[in-house]
Amino acid sequence: MSQGRVLLAVSGGIAAYKIPDLIRALKRAGHSVRCALTPAAGRFVTPLTLQTLSGEAVRSELFDPAEEGQIDHVALADWADVVVVAPATAHLLARMAHGLADELVTTLLLATRAPVLVAPAMNVNMWENPATRENCERLRARGVWFVGPESGLLACGWEGEGRMAEPAAIADAVERVLAPPSLRGETLLVTAGGTREPLDAVRALTNRSSGKMGFAVAREAARRGAEVVLVAGPSALETPPGVERVDVETALEMREAVFRALPRAGVVVMTAAVADFRPAQREQHKIKKEDLAEDAGLTLELVRNPDILAEVCRTPGTRTVVGFAAESRDVIEAARRKLRRKGCDLLVANDVSRTDAGFDTDTNAVSFVWPGGDVEELPLLSKAQVAAHLLDRVEKLREERA
Ligand code: PMT
Repeated sequence: MSQGRVLLAVSGGIAAYKIPDLIRALKRAGHSVRCALTPAAGRFVTPLTLQTLSGEAVRSELFDPAEEGQIDHVALADWADVVVVAPATAHLLARMAHGLADELVTTLLLATRAPVLVAPAMNVNMWENPATRENCERLRARGVWFVGPESGLLACGWEGEGRMAEPAAIADAVERVLAPPSLRGETLLVTAGGTREPLDAVRALTNRSSGKMGFAVAREAARRGAEVVLVAGPSALETPPGVERVDVETALEMREAVFRALPRAGVVVMTAAVADFRPAQREQHKIKKEDLAEDAGLTLELVRNPDILAEVCRTPGTRTVVGFAAESRDVIEAARRKLRRKGCDLLVANDVSRTDAGFDTDTNAVSFVWPGGDVEELPLLSKAQVAAHLLDRVEKLREERA
């Protein structure tokens, strides 16, 4: 168990009443905890409670001479091995996303070089608001960790996503953030997103893959110290810190980029939704219906794309290869057949029949399907958490083989 220095930044939300339990969980795990409060946080949980449980003075003012005299705010930001923001309100996430430093907590967040873990808590409509979504996307792209929020009955009376993760889940996430760089010396090749197969000058065949799953794997691998090459189909996501990104459009381009990087890779994780077929020919100009007979349909001829994963698995070497399979029915059986056909070391079966999993969602529901027949079903998790579980399995495989 890593024993770290946890700076707990508490903002003003009703979920702050759970913070005493979080402090207890962190202390039980052997961590030192110091608390910093936004001006509103003290209305929901008293500084005296937090001070008693953490055993440390609590800070709430940026320029209070007495507080600064004990430990100045920059020293506090430097002290932390991890900063946990719980609860993280919509307003605090917005200020973080824009780099504001208008009171103690935001100033600490801007000054620290430690990893930051946020546990959002708010009304479901605020959580689903595009402004909050964009702010979270921006923070994720900067490497900020998220735990929760969870679904359920909210304090405001609404039901839905917005409840702060339970203290035990936040404490677990802290362990993962503090984990040592276990993939140092390893090179990971990750594919992400969907491919786009042009039909004419303006149209293309594609799918709804956003790249979120693959980007999460790349981000987590980089955090664990790996060198990461991310071969990405068209995606609006920002490149995770420390990741080498190769943008491609078609399956043929993806294949080329994968085989260029393959000699360096000890681990290959293929989350991309690669088009199995592409138009036999790409029209140079836009196909116009006026050029066709009145009421005539249009028949497209498609040809097969190469199966990149199967080709990688057939390429001699000692690398570990993980495939993904998006399935909407008979998920495990379909994944088992795919695993046998492609020959990878592990197949991640992705249940895409649910609205909260699969394409373009922040959460995912997956099972690990092993060549020996074993299946490990994971609960609904954030894609970052799925990535962490996946890389835990990859590390174990590598250790067993070494
Ligand atoms: O990007 P997101 O919005 O986050 O969505 C993530 C995801 C749902 C796309 C991802 O989690 C997922 O399930 N990816 C697999 C998509 C899929 O349906 O793959 P498949 O069943 O067509 O192929 C199985 C495996 O072979 C995959 O690893 C795929 O990358 C690979 N493949 C497939 C076809 C092909 N021509 N070449 C390949 O390498």
